Amino acid sequence: MKENLKWFTDAKYGLFIHWGLYSILGGVWKGKRAPHTSEWAMKNLQIPLEEYRLLANEFCPTEFDARAYVKKAKEWGMRYVTVTAKHHDGFALYDSRVSDYTVMYTPYGKDIIRQFADACAEENMTFCVYYSQMQDWEDPNGNGNTWDFDPEKQNFETYFYGKCVPQVRELLTEYGKIGMIWFDTPYDMPIHLCRELADVVRECQPDCLINGRIGYGLGDYRQMADNSIPAHAYTGAWEVPMTLNGSWGYSSFDANWAEPSEVIARLSAVAGKGGNLLLNIGPDRYGAIPAESVRILDEVGEWLKRNGESIYGTSVLPDFPYEIKWGNLTYRQADRVLYLHIKQYPKLTPRVSLLGLKTRVKSARLLNTGEELRFTQTYEVARDEERFAVWIPEQCPDAVDTVVALTLMDDLDVQRLQ
Ligand code: GLC
Repeated sequence: MKENLKWFTDAKYGLFIHWGLYSILGGVWKGKRAPHTSEWAMKNLQIPLEEYRLLANEFCPTEFDARAYVKKAKEWGMRYVTVTAKHHDGFALYDSRVSDYTVMYTPYGKDIIRQFADACAEENMTFCVYYSQMQDWEDPNGNGNTWDFDPEKQNFETYFYGKCVPQVRELLTEYGKIGMIWFDTPYDMPIHLCRELADVVRECQPDCLINGRIGYGLGDYRQMADNSIPAHAYTGAWEVPMTLNGSWGYSSFDANWAEPSEVIARLSAVAGKGGNLLLNIGPDRYGAIPAESVRILDEVGEWLKRNGESIYGTSVLPDFPYEIKWGNLTYRQADRVLYLHIKQYPKLTPRVSLLGLKTRVKSARLLNTGEELRFTQTYEVARDEERFAVWIPEQCPDAVDTVVALTLMDDLDVQRLQ
């Protein structure tokens, strides 16, 4: 694995921040609700650019405090922060010299990416930026705005060399160390331009990771589809971006919030399959984080304070032969510790079983209290089946996810069904 990937694969958990002019609309324009996610309102409601860009005159997030955001991300247990520097609508949250469609031309008039970069440096948090390299609904030569501009007259390379590449250079040369750049929707961008863009990143900051959505497998890790966890373990570095409700950008009406238990279930499932979870918040027009997002992330953060050992720095583990009904597993190869994440706590008999574990277990303990637990490990010849069982407290110690740590006597070895 590339040396500069280690921080990423150890981190496991990052904060995604979608913020821009769309946050003012909150998914509603002239009384119409944008379908799907709110940062697509301009396209999905075909808002004329001349009207949409007037939102810049209303952008004045007086409640925004980058340092407070980054401190919250640390409290929540996140190890990197990824902020939308320029999303599909073309509006930049930083002081770009190649466009006047930026936060500097709003009543707020301050460089938001600069504030995040400084706050991350002060808090020792890895800072990453999202950049939509293909779509740009403000630039007549950018992809995607077919209602203001005639696609037939579009010259993508004019946008690519005139705005995309210069802005990526600005972000990677003027904001300090960037841990990773998060490209998006490469669509049918010609592979030679994707290669050129990757070369620009390598030239500006050789250690800056490139996510998978630069296209054509040119990234440093695989980007899974939005909110999609692979069914099986994936041995390379990968990341799944996830929303807390149904929208990346702030939505004034989407109240379909995930529960903390769902987030922790996804986080442990992703970690067990060798991936990272990039979990999103959509600040509102004032720069405030939605209260529901704070509630959920606070609770997940508290769980991580007690059980983070079972997530951070864990490794991909092989698929077990049977589906595990009570929860899922994570594995810390360096210490040979297998973590049982018990989400469906047994009601009748306080015991959980694991089939197919060939490696002998040295000890079993409740992770957040250290309490030693009784366990049995047998091999049933007639069935050619390895059978492990551990007895757990009658009273469920953690309703969200009770973690049992099994210290193994050797590297993890799993039985294959013949
Ligand atoms: C999709 C959406 C984009 C969002 C991204 C996050 O690509 O088009 O709006 O930023 O998902 O993963």
